[in-house]
Amino acid sequence: MTVTFENQPVIGPEPVPKRKLYTGDMVPAIGLGTFGSDNYDNETIADAVRTAVRMGYRHIDCASVYGNEREIGLILKELFEEGTVTRRELWITSKVWNDSHDRVIAACEQSLSDLGLDYLDLYLVHWPFPNHHAKGVTVDSRDPHAEPYIHENYMKVWRDMERLVEKGLVRNIGTSNMTRPKMELLLRDCRIRPTVNEMELHPHFQQPALFDYVVSEGIVPIGFSPLGSPGRPERDRTPEDTSPMEDPVIAEIARGHGIHPAAVCLKWGVQRGGVVIPFSVKPEKILSNLSAVADGDPLTGAEMEAIRAIDKNCRLVKGQVFTWPGATWEDLWDEDGIIKQ
Ligand SMILES: NC(=O)c1ccc[n+]([C@@H]2O[C@H](COP(=O)([O-])OP(=O)(O)OC[C@H]3O[C@@H](n4cnc5c(N)ncnc54)[C@H](OP(=O)(O)O)[C@@H]3O)[C@@H](O)[C@H]2O)c1
Repeated sequence: MTVTFENQPVIGPEPVPKRKLYTGDMVPAIGLGTFGSDNYDNETIADAVRTAVRMGYRHIDCASVYGNEREIGLILKELFEEGTVTRRELWITSKVWNDSHDRVIAACEQSLSDLGLDYLDLYLVHWPFPNHHAKGVTVDSRDPHAEPYIHENYMKVWRDMERLVEKGLVRNIGTSNMTRPKMELLLRDCRIRPTVNEMELHPHFQQPALFDYVVSEGIVPIGFSPLGSPGRPERDRTPEDTSPMEDPVIAEIARGHGIHPAAVCLKWGVQRGGVVIPFSVKPEKILSNLSAVADGDPLTGAEMEAIRAIDKNCRLVKGQVFTWPGATWEDLWDEDGIIKQ
């Protein structure tokens, strides 16, 4: 019999695997993404948070730049008041946006105030550059003040991240959109190590070298756009992009398990040892994504191997809008192991 709450099916948090961080904290291996890719209004995304938590999600991936933390905060308040969850049962992530690298503590306090919380489980540096863009810009838009990675400046940001831990406002800190050479410098110079690295991960962009490197450093990889971000904004699309959910190998495995290709992508992401944060506002998709990591029907070794072989090194979130004068988007990613200046 399916358990329901207000006519919505409930899986509950118990069958969801967790990842242990070096701090001892446990992160649920699936979280709900909250970046609406300019397609949905803030209330719709906040409603998806309510639906997800009632179904059994305990991890929500937020960011100030998504523009919806205030609406999500109202839903969290409601969920606490109705007794669906306690604060301690939830894992809430937020991120300092690129325009606030010189005011990290104030930015974190603003996210806490908007979310109605007195601490975050995880706070990330969203991008290692201070370069930013206005909401909804086109792919040709550039920040005239954009600059390359400057390690000294990143370490100033990181010192403030460390202060947030010391002040008790944040339980864990982490990075996002990092590369190995940047991470090596951070690990050399930090006082508090990152607990996670949030990075694009899906069957067509597996980043095996960076994935293995962060794991070898005791850092948990959180995979964003785990379904290949089919609703991403125009500024993040190019004609060469491929779609993991449409891959024939993924489709065949999905048929074998009687599940949607999305579920295969999520099972793969979790079985590989990462955390997945798929976005949806549709209750049936929110439920089926949770079920994919909670249903106890793993992919076989042969299926995992077949998926390993379809990596296309196809980065979808390229970050074109963050490039500095004279740079291409490839320069953001240090592909030959050298930080571009
Ligand atoms: N750290 C970073 O820089 C960064 C960058 C990008 C994303 N993120 C985070 O990662 C989250 C997820 O990434 P994303 O939103 O880019 O991409 P995604 O989760 O790979 O894809 C989301 C899209 O997939 C569709 N979808 C969801 N579940 C589905 C299912 N079961 N079957 C078919 N389609 C399904 C959704 O459809 P509907 O629209 O119909 O619901 C939505 O359009 C974001 O929301 C954000 O929290 C972080």
